[in-house]
Amino acid sequence: MVKALRLGKSLASRFDEELRFFRGWIDKPKAVGSIVPTSAVTARRMASIVRPESDGLVLELGPGTGVITRAILERGIKPQNLVSVEYSADFVKKLREDLPGVNIVHGDAFDLDATLAAWKDQTFDCVVCAIPLLNFPVPKRIELIERLLDLIPVGRPVVQITYGPISPVPPRRGTYDVERFDFVVRNIPPAHLWLYRRPADM
Ligand SMILES: C[S@@+](CC[C@H](N)C(=O)[O-])C[C@H]1O[C@@H](n2cnc3c(N)ncnc32)[C@H](O)[C@@H]1O
Repeated sequence: MVKALRLGKSLASRFDEELRFFRGWIDKPKAVGSIVPTSAVTARRMASIVRPESDGLVLELGPGTGVITRAILERGIKPQNLVSVEYSADFVKKLREDLPGVNIVHGDAFDLDATLAAWKDQTFDCVVCAIPLLNFPVPKRIELIERLLDLIPVGRPVVQITYGPISPVPPRRGTYDVERFDFVVRNIPPAHLWLYRRPADM
């Protein structure tokens, strides 16, 4: 009985999260980019790039309802070492309630100088990005990846989720390498994961 109640509660909170996400998509379809949150399997795969032992800061872009944020925390990094940048005020409010201690920044990932003013001159260890890049022009996508790679050490990755089969940031158009990381079928829709890195010789 208790187990059934607990299961009912967790299903209810999951439904609440999916409903909130869907409402976000109705309000701003281009920014939210998907009608359901990323699956836990995909979130864990993306979070696998995080090195808890490095003690460096992790930057997350587009946390939404926090599926990937939670997977990053599950890797063992301290909440205060995670900086998550979200554009939607509604998602920001809920994330701050649900994930105390995490630096939830209300701002624009395409204006990182202003958005990350409080972390000026700080280096991050890696970036986990769920911004729906396909909804933005290619030059803007390239500019974002270059800016993100300026924030992390040479060789460390930016991981990006997308729903198309090709890299949303085209190769050979800047100072970054592109690597296919994974294809996760257990996601709606199935998700392609890409890694971007700045090699030492560029
Ligand atoms: C596809 S949803 C991913 C949400 C969540 N990470 C997940 O995987 O379920 C994209 C998220 O990026 C946010 N977003 C879109 N454009 C943004 C921007 N320029 N700056 C910050 N966040 C942005 C949206 O509000 C939304 O929460």
